[in-house]
Amino acid sequence: MSESFPFWPVAFVTGSSRGIGRGIALALAAKGFDVAVHGRSNAVEAQRTADEIVALGRRATVVLGEIGDLARHEAMIEEAEAALGPLTTFVNNAGVGALKRGDVLEASVESYDHCMLYNAKAAFFLTQAVARRMVTRPRDPAGYYSILLVSSVSATAASINRGEYCVSKAATAMIAQVFAARLAREGVYVFDIQPGVIETDMSRPALADYQRRIDEEGLTLIPRLGQPQDVGTVAASIAAGGLPYVSGQVIRVDGAMLLPRL
Ligand SMILES: NC(=O)c1ccc[n+]([C@@H]2O[C@H](COP(=O)([O-])OP(=O)(O)OC[C@H]3O[C@@H](n4cnc5c(N)ncnc54)[C@H](OP(=O)(O)O)[C@@H]3O)[C@@H](O)[C@H]2O)c1
Repeated sequence: MSESFPFWPVAFVTGSSRGIGRGIALALAAKGFDVAVHGRSNAVEAQRTADEIVALGRRATVVLGEIGDLARHEAMIEEAEAALGPLTTFVNNAGVGALKRGDVLEASVESYDHCMLYNAKAAFFLTQAVARRMVTRPRDPAGYYSILLVSSVSATAASINRGEYCVSKAATAMIAQVFAARLAREGVYVFDIQPGVIETDMSRPALADYQRRIDEEGLTLIPRLGQPQDVGTVAASIAAGGLPYVSGQVIRVDGAMLLPRL
């Protein structure tokens, strides 16, 4: 990390008690970031992530909060900044799957609203709340404020057994585009990270089938399931300035699953 950075690099990673967010939080710590670890309610797992960050020689704090409660957003960010200082990176990772996989002809309003509340509405307003703070802060030409949104290959690839999730992730991807367009001139760079199939609690029920499709059908050109640290390494490289003169780009961490082929 550049020594001329205006503040010590501090990241807030939503949904970092477990899964992909945890992988991102640990990779950021390994790059020199202090990290606010967040989860909805799982204080034990969140503390475990925080302890590993401290073991890497960085500072960590735990912030718990329901992202669907928009009135809680300011307080969550405030809590993180009070403990660690101004945020230089915010990772909108927390998200949910469809309530039930099944034919899109049977998708329920409840599942649609569930996906849209967490993957779209909460991500939009969290991004807005953080961006409002970042634009008021002093900038350093060598410095790098970033906001990363974790959408999914499902923002692009249509799955007919969880259509409402795909629709909500397309919204997450557009949040990245809109805020990238607004914030580039302010020195805040925004990226859309699109994981493929990553081994976590969320994907666990479908993993055996995906593994079979990797082995038998070549679903991913890199022939393995993704791991949270794969996404973490990519996210931390971006946050540490590894992609200079870039904003608004989609970065797929999907084992080349969506590479167009003939
Ligand atoms: N796994 C995949 O294959 C995959 C692929 C593409 C995209 N993604 C996306 O990557 C992100 C992370 O997925 P994951 O697989 O790591 O999920 P996960 O294993 O289910 O972990 C979800 C994390 O988000 C938090 N969270 C969930 N709902 C929340 C809410 N309403 N308020 C606050 N925190 C909440 C959880 O906190 P608690 O621990 O407190 O519950 C947990 O830390 C999601 O946006 C997902 O859509 C995942």
